[in-house]
This record gives sequence, C-alpha cells and structure tokens, in this order.
Amino acid sequence: MNHCNEIYECRDLSYNRNLGGPLPQSIGNLKQLVVLRLIGCKFGDRIPIEVGNLLNLHVLSLNSNQFAGEIPASLGRLSNLTWLDLAGNQLTGRLPTSSDEGSGLDQLLNTLHLHLNKNQLSGRIPNSLFSSNMKFIHVLLDHNNFTGEIPESIGLVRSLEILRLDNNYLNGSVPSSIRNLTLLDALNLANNKLIGPMPNLTGMHALNYLDLSNNTFDPSEVPEWLLDVQNLTTLIIESGRLHGEVPPSLFSFPQLQQLRLKDNAFGGTLDMGSNISHQLEMVDLRNNAFTSVTLSSNYNNSIILVGNPVCSNAQLHETEYCHEPQDSGSGSSITDCLHPYEGPIVCRAPSFSDVSRNLAPMANRIASMVNGTPVSFSLQNYFFDGDAYLRVQLTICPSSAKHFTRREILQWFDLSSQSLALSEIYGPCYFDPWQYSFRRSVNRGLIAGIVVGCVAAVLAIAGLGSYALWQKKRAKKAIILQNPFASWGSTGGDAGDAPQLRLARCFSLDELRKCTDDFSKDNEIGSGGYGKACDDLIVYKATLQDGKTVVAIKRSQKGSKQGGVEFKTEIEMLSRVHHKNLVDLVGFCFEKGERMLVYEYISNGTLTENLSGRRRTQLDWKRRLHVALDAAKGLAYLHELAKPPIIHRDVKSSNILLDDDLAAKVADFGLSMLVDDGNLGHVSTSVKGTMGYLDPEYFMTQQLTAKSDVYSFGVVMLELMTSRLPIQKGKYVVREVKAGLDEKDAEFCGLKHMIDPSILNDGCIVGFRKFVELALRCVEDASDDRPTMSEIVKEIETMLKDDKLKGNSASSSSSSSSDAGLRQTYDELLLLSREVNSDGVHRSDRYLFSDRSETDACAVLDRGSE
Ligand SMILES: *[C@@H]1O[C@H](CO)[C@@H](O)[C@H](O)[C@H]1NC(C)=O
Ligand SMILES: *[C@@H]1O[C@H](CO)[C@@H](O)[C@H](O)[C@H]1NC(C)=O
Repeated sequence: MNHCNEIYECRDLSYNRNLGGPLPQSIGNLKQLVVLRLIGCKFGDRIPIEVGNLLNLHVLSLNSNQFAGEIPASLGRLSNLTWLDLAGNQLTGRLPTSSDEGSGLDQLLNTLHLHLNKNQLSGRIPNSLFSSNMKFIHVLLDHNNFTGEIPESIGLVRSLEILRLDNNYLNGSVPSSIRNLTLLDALNLANNKLIGPMPNLTGMHALNYLDLSNNTFDPSEVPEWLLDVQNLTTLIIESGRLHGEVPPSLFSFPQLQQLRLKDNAFGGTLDMGSNISHQLEMVDLRNNAFTSVTLSSNYNNSIILVGNPVCSNAQLHETEYCHEPQDSGSGSSITDCLHPYEGPIVCRAPSFSDVSRNLAPMANRIASMVNGTPVSFSLQNYFFDGDAYLRVQLTICPSSAKHFTRREILQWFDLSSQSLALSEIYGPCYFDPWQYSFRRSVNRGLIAGIVVGCVAAVLAIAGLGSYALWQKKRAKKAIILQNPFASWGSTGGDAGDAPQLRLARCFSLDELRKCTDDFSKDNEIGSGGYGKACDDLIVYKATLQDGKTVVAIKRSQKGSKQGGVEFKTEIEMLSRVHHKNLVDLVGFCFEKGERMLVYEYISNGTLTENLSGRRRTQLDWKRRLHVALDAAKGLAYLHELAKPPIIHRDVKSSNILLDDDLAAKVADFGLSMLVDDGNLGHVSTSVKGTMGYLDPEYFMTQQLTAKSDVYSFGVVMLELMTSRLPIQKGKYVVREVKAGLDEKDAEFCGLKHMIDPSILNDGCIVGFRKFVELALRCVEDASDDRPTMSEIVKEIETMLKDDKLKGNSASSSSSSSSDAGLRQTYDELLLLSREVNSDGVHRSDRYLFSDRSETDACAVLDRGSE
C-alpha cells in the first residue's frame, strides 16, 4: 500500500465552491490517508467523527467551508497531525478536551498549526488544552465567541511563534505566564474585554507584531516594559486608555514600521526625537490630546494627527497631518464597509523582508485585476507568519451596494485560483477569501448570471477525476492518487491553464531505503544545498525496483523544520516544470519526517567536473557554446514560461549536468526553497547563493530577481571560457576578465592568457568576442543592464549560426552602486571566500563558510546582525 495517499484540495480543482454537501462518514475508511485538504469548497454539516479514524493524517485542512456543529473530540486521536486547519467555517460549541470527552485537542502533541479562527466557537479556552509537551507554533483562535480568561497554561507552550486570540469576548486579566513565550513573534489580543494592567511583556525580544487594542486595561501611561520590546515592527494599541506623553524612544525601535495609537489620551507635546527608525512609515495618533508637535526633519512619512487639539492651530490646520489619510500611495486605500469580501493573500516565498517597500507591485497587480469594476480595495495587516509566508489582508469593498452579489464575487474567480499571478518577488501566492454571506437576491438577471457562471465552473471540473473517483470508491479501499496533481483535467474550460504534468511518483521510504542499500555511503554521489550549513542535502545514486530507471535521490538532513505543506508546495512547483534542459523530477517521498526528491540521473556529471578535467570528456569550444545555450534555454524556461516563474537562486557550474550526449541540463532549481531557512522573518534575512556566483545587487538590496540568475549565468559563461573556478588563487574571474579587456583589441588578445588552452587548440574560436561581451553584460553591476535569459538564448544561437561572426559592439562596465558600505561588505565576503579557497575552512563571527569542494563555498550572511 502506498504511503502517500492524499486527497487534494478544491483549490486544485480551480477553487470550486460547487463541491459540497456533507462529508461522508465513510471517509473514515481511508485509513492510509496522510493529507486531507478540502479548502474553499462548500462542504457543510458536521465534520464526521470518523475523521478521527484517519490515524495516519499529517495534514487536515478543511478551512473555508461551511462546516457547522462542534469540533469532534475524535480529532484528538490524530497523533500524527502536524497541521489542523478548520478556520473560516461555522463551527460552534466548546473546544473538546480529553478530560471532558475522553479525547480532545489537548492530545495533539505533534501538531504545529492549530488554526480555528473565524468560527463561532464559544465557552472558555480550557486550561487543560495546553501543556508543556506541545509543539504548537501557531495558535489562531481569533474571531470566535470565546469567553472567560486566557488560560494560564498558554505559557507552557514555549514553541509558540504566533498567538492570536483577538476578536473574542475574553475577559479577566492576561496571565503573567504569557511572558514565558519568548519565541513569540506575533501577539494579538485586540478586541476582547480584558481587564487589569496591560500585560508585562518584558523580555519578549522576538516580538515583532503586537496588538492590544480595544480592551479595558487599566488606564496608564506608556508602560515601561514596552521600551524593552525593541524588535517590534508593528505596535497597535488603539483605544488603549493610555495617557501622558509618548516617549521619543518609542520611535527609535530599529525595525519599527507602524505605530498605531489612535483613540487614546496622549497629550502634551509630540516629540519623535532625533533617532527615528529608518523603517517607520506610519504613525497614527488620531483622536488624542496633543497640544503641540515638534516635527523632525528626519522623518518624511505619514503622521496622522486628526482629532488632536493641535490641529486647531492655524499653522497645522491645513497640513496633511490634520487630514484623514486619503490614499496610502500604493494603489490601495483604506476601506471601511459593512460587508467586505476579504481574506489573506498568502505568499509562500517572498524574496524580501521589508514588506512596506515591496507592497506596491501587489497593489498594482490587484488594481489591474479589479480594473473596471466599481470597488475599492485595501491591503493591510501584513506580516510574515512563522513559516515565513507573507500574509497580506485583502479587503474588497463594494462601492455602491452594501453587499456584493454572487455574480460580482464570481468576477473574482481569477483572484481565487491556486496561484495568484503577482510579481515574481512574492513567490507563489494564493488568495484565501473568508466565507461571504450573500444578500438574497431575486433579480432574474442576476440569477441568469449566476447560472452561466456556475456552468463555466462545472465545465472547469468536468473530467477531473479525483472527486468522482472518490465518490465511486469511497466504500472500498483507500484511493491511490499516485499523481497528486491528477485533478487537472485535459478537457473543460480551464484546459488552457492545465499544466503539462508528467507523473511525479510518490515513493515509500521503504522502497528508497532498499534501492539505496539503506542510504549507504557507497551510494552517495554528492552533497550540497545551502543554508545554515552546507550539508543540508546528501545525494544518492540508485536503481529503482524496475531494475532500469537510474535516479539521483536528494535527501534532506534531519533537523529541518519544513513541514508537509511546504514540501508539497515545492513538489507541486517542481512537477509543473518540464523542459529538456532541466533535470526532471521523478518523484518524492514524504514519510516519517523524511523529505526526499527523486530526480532522473544524469550520467556525465557536472559541468565543473567536466571543465576541471576530472572527467575524460573533451569539451571543445563549439560544445561549450552548446552547453551555454542549453543551460540558458533551461533558465529562460524557468524565468519566462514556468507558472509561477521560478528563480533558480543558485546557478553555477556544479548545478549544470551533462547527459550522455553532453547536452546540458540545469539542476536544483527550486531547491532554494526546499532548504529550511531557519527564522526567515522580517528580523533578518539571509542572502543565499554560492560565492563567486552571487549577484552583488541582490546581495546589497536583498531583492531577488531573475536578473540574479543572469549574473550567475554570466559567471558560468566565463568559466566555460577559462575552465577555471570563479574564484581561484584569490582571483575573481569577473574582475580578471574586466581588467584584461581592452576595447581597441579587436580579437581580445589581452584575454588569451586566461582562455583554456585546450580550446585555443581548436584554432578558430567561434564568436569569441561576442561571447565575452555577452558574458560581461550578464555580470553588469546593475541588473537593468543585464540581458534576459531569452535574449541570451538568441545571442548564443546567432554565434553558433555564424562561425565567422566578428563582434564589434562596445562593452561597457559602469558601476553605479549607491550603497558603498554594502559594496564593501560584499567585497569583504569575496575576500573571505578567497581565503576559504586557499586555506580550507574559514570562520568568522559574521560569516560561516565551509568548503565542500573547491567550488561550493557557501555563505550565510545575517543582515540582521549588522
Ligand atoms: C457569536 O457572537 C455573535 C456576535 O455576538 C452572535 O451573533 C452569534 O450568535 C454568536 N454565536 C454563538 C454560536 O454563540
Ligand atoms: C515587568 O517584569 C519585569 C521582569 O520581571 C520587572 O522587572 C518589572 O518591574 C515589571 N514591570 C511592571 C510594571 O510590573
């Protein structure tokens, strides 16, 4: 029996609200099921108790449906569950615990995610729910009807990173044990009835996001402990009964982005001090009692003072400070309406950490999606969750009517699909709208519209096997969905969008264990990956049980925190990508904490090996041009044709493999995201890549774009020319070539000493000058000056077509780095890596290098510690 049975979500059926009805009790017979995700459908009625029989479940996601009734206590039996998401339903009643009902949620000792938000759950949050052997990292109980006190036991769950209890009816005072949650990144207690002093959060240094608004805490001045929580990016205490002065030091928290303190009783003079956070973009002090303001010339972003006495001052009265903000300047406006259509946009791999500076492309994209419809929208409350997913709350308001109609919502169909085509900087994203209650409409025209809309949606799933299959076989054995992506049909309305999928097989741990001889050292053919250490991955060669297929198995080392859902996302991404110049994913295994990817085995090794002479292949110049062309085609596909686009992030000669015919295939794309990144939140982010290939602009701005791959590819081109590692004997090939270049030297003779003598033997070097010029354009400092991968493909094709082509265009190498300090750091890093290459391993406080092979020095630079 296969171990990887999964039922996939409706989202994969193009987000289909038509799949619905009660979940059959016989679901309890699918005993091998590991993942059950039915998100955003119309399933309703009770969650069958029998779900508690699915003892192998790792992931149970039933969010955004219409489930009602109580949470079955039987879910407590799912001891393997790492992810429980029942958010956005109509669940009622109390949280079941084993002391009351024999089994309950307190038994979920392996669960990392408990998402029960947006339901109508009530009663107390039981003290027995939490214990010190739990592993929760996310507990989301917000937007329910919970009453009573916050349980003291919450302080036992030391692993917690996000705790949301907001928008309930919680009362009593906040237990002091909450301060034990020193890993907590986001704490939201807003909109409850909490009393007593504001909780003392001294020592919670991980805290980034804090919202204590709208409670009934004792009136006070700004509490002293607040000045100890220095890592805040967002502080929200609205209607907090605060008075006195706002201490200037509050504005100097180094990462502070938003300070929202409206509807308090702060008074006196507003003085932001001189040391204002560079990140600060918004200070909302509406409706306080400030009588004067000392504005700082260091701060040019938004301050809102409407509703303060100081605004009656003639000088200030007409200024922007004293007006309600109109537009945040990024295409979004603050919206307020009774019945918004809303939900989070979740982006799983953003390439930046400073959200405020990177929200504009998202806003623009959404503006273009809703273009022509009379709505307003806002993007708010963004944060990185504990999985380093970016979450941005999208709120769409109808501008005329009070409600959206069903037909209008259907126009958001695009927004609701699995992958939201935003800018590539966000990585893959989706929109997960909350349930929307429609106003009943008797308008015939509208009904016609709904019918047409639904027919289209039904067409879209006609021919999709998985649900029908499930219906048919539900009474029998478990379904084997060998291809988890089988849910895309080849017929129906969305055929155009259906990705071309070859089967990504799900392997059992046993099978892979057997064919690698229990992962024996003899079968190891390499290691790699990057992140905290360089040995995240070990690669094994194996022959599958069919006796024919030879594969390379990449096995992540234990200790990585990546969960099943993330892994699945990555596999989905990799499975969608097929190109003759990319190494094919054959399958994967996700079992017992193991995460492995199985790739086709490519016989002739890496380009590095082939260039270094470690293999017997002879790569003449023409062959090298073909290698460059092949690799460029693979990357052009990733950048320009893959949906969503993929940035490789680690293009280098050791990631380019040569097959029997010496055709090149790019490997390890997407791996960057498979490798656990530790705490990649907005505190710090690590620039990832391999020294020698790392794009200096990416390094300095942390803005990953496709052009970073182009830079690395340029380095590979130079390697093809010189057969040298990019950094060898303390010399960096990019600088050496730039330095050796003389414009007047038509044949680039000045570079002769750098060229691999074995290609000079060929006598005639086809298109050499063009080639060097192209490589140097790829490694321009400014990414805008670099060509795209498809331009590179075209140029290399031209070189190959015309042997006698003599280049004559000028090459330029302008350097325009505004950030000299970072440039220096980058240079320093290069310097360090030279030391690595000459004397083995180098360590310093700030950089960690380890030298696996001469080429694979890897670097992690923690920008947060600078
Ligand atoms: C939850 O609270 C809301 C708002 O007060 C109320 O309308 C609803 O009936 C409550 N639901 C339950 C199940 O108590
Ligand atoms: C908050 O807790 C810290 C650490 O225990 C303590 O030193 C401080 O006095 C407390 N502050 C208040 C206002 O209780």
